[in-house]
Amino acid sequence: MPRCRVNLSTMIFLVILQGAAVVLFCGWYVQLSPCGSAPSHGKVHVLLLSSWRSGSSFLGQVFSQHQSVFYLMEPGWHVWTTLQRPGARALRMAVRDLLRSTFHCDFSTMEAYLPQQHNVSNLFMWSHSRALCSPPACPLTPRTHFSNQTACQLQCSTRGLGGAQRACNTYSHVVLKEVRFFELESLYPLLQDPGLDLRIVHLVRDPRAVMRSREESSKSFTSDSAIVLEQRNVSTADVQYQVMQEICRSHVRIKERALQKPPPFLEGRYKLVRYEDLARNPLDEIGSIYDFVGLEMTSTLKEWIYKVTHGKGKGTKKEAFKITSRNAVDVSQAWRTSLPHSKVRRVQDVCRGAMSMLGYRPVNSDKEQKKLDIDLLVPREPYRFSWLPTKTEPPKIKP
Ligand SMILES: *[C@@H]1O[C@H](CO)[C@@H](O)[C@H](O)[C@H]1NC(C)=O
Ligand SMILES: *[C@@H]1O[C@H](CO)[C@@H](O)[C@H](O)[C@H]1NC(C)=O
Ligand SMILES: *[C@@H]1O[C@H](CO)[C@@H](O)[C@H](O)[C@H]1NC(C)=O
Repeated sequence: MPRCRVNLSTMIFLVILQGAAVVLFCGWYVQLSPCGSAPSHGKVHVLLLSSWRSGSSFLGQVFSQHQSVFYLMEPGWHVWTTLQRPGARALRMAVRDLLRSTFHCDFSTMEAYLPQQHNVSNLFMWSHSRALCSPPACPLTPRTHFSNQTACQLQCSTRGLGGAQRACNTYSHVVLKEVRFFELESLYPLLQDPGLDLRIVHLVRDPRAVMRSREESSKSFTSDSAIVLEQRNVSTADVQYQVMQEICRSHVRIKERALQKPPPFLEGRYKLVRYEDLARNPLDEIGSIYDFVGLEMTSTLKEWIYKVTHGKGKGTKKEAFKITSRNAVDVSQAWRTSLPHSKVRRVQDVCRGAMSMLGYRPVNSDKEQKKLDIDLLVPREPYRFSWLPTKTEPPKIKP
């Protein structure tokens, strides 16, 4: 065998040269795509950012039932209920950090908010997550099937979060639904985390419909409302309106931040969805949301979506946190016949800016409100295509 003769200093020189090349290449490459620390391995992280009673349970299920998705509802609920005293501003970093570790399938942060002896069933609305009812978390539901919450609740709660963590690691998409953000800035570190490939789906809904829905189950919002209002002393009659005002302001803040001069790491990573568009045209809207996050639409999902958006009934108190078959268009119009005009006017007052920005027309009389053939939805601006920079196709470097 021929022997390779290289003297020591040549060797050292070559090693240093190679090291320098790697450092230079990484430094240059990091601007195009993450290089070095924990890349996302093609995993996509989706934050379904919404507000209470805005149809996010429904859109959450659209993700949850997809076979490529590990879904959890409102990790932030655990933070808000464990650390109740302060206001939303003080808690948002804790919620942000919980989201970050959960996106990374690390449940140790979550455990800090659970009782010492905990089961999967301690996770908020855990049985709404199809992934927690499927292998490897639970043998009950094959991954390609739709889950049954009742059956899952009976059979799938195991001790500890090990099963959830193992399951999370086997999916290409981790989707978290959250209603506890009122701005985007605190999420910037997640958007810049090279280990995350974050997409934000921002779901909004007509504030008058949100108001009607909140009134139906106002008791369940007492504690959350106090946190939204930073524990201010607000008279009971005013609480709902002030909370609505905060929510509406947050819509404006978030949309403006994301679509007008966004920082470079936010470009193409934000999609605004109106609940009403979703209700009127579920297949097209959901198709476009799936495209945005890189999920495939299947024929069984199409059938399921049709079924759950074309059921009967306007929704009742019992269904506060449930998703059942209801006629989505009826649900989105229900406020017009059931919310008194005086309340509608007050909501319109506190939400004027957000309504005009999001395309919800105000009504000026009780008659106009109840005349359902007057369409109050302003057609959306033509869909803005903003392709995500792909890993193989570096984005154009601006001169
Ligand atoms: C957790 O599950 C175990 C059985 O796996 C059960 O004995 C225990 O009561 C459960 N604890 C809670 C808090 O649900
Ligand atoms: C869900 O599971 C429960 C309990 O096993 C069963 O009674 C019910 O019929 C199931 N629902 C559907 C829609 O399959
Ligand atoms: C809250 O305000 C009401 C009247 O506006 C007052 O009577 C009450 O003492 C206040 N409560 C606290 C805790 O400040």
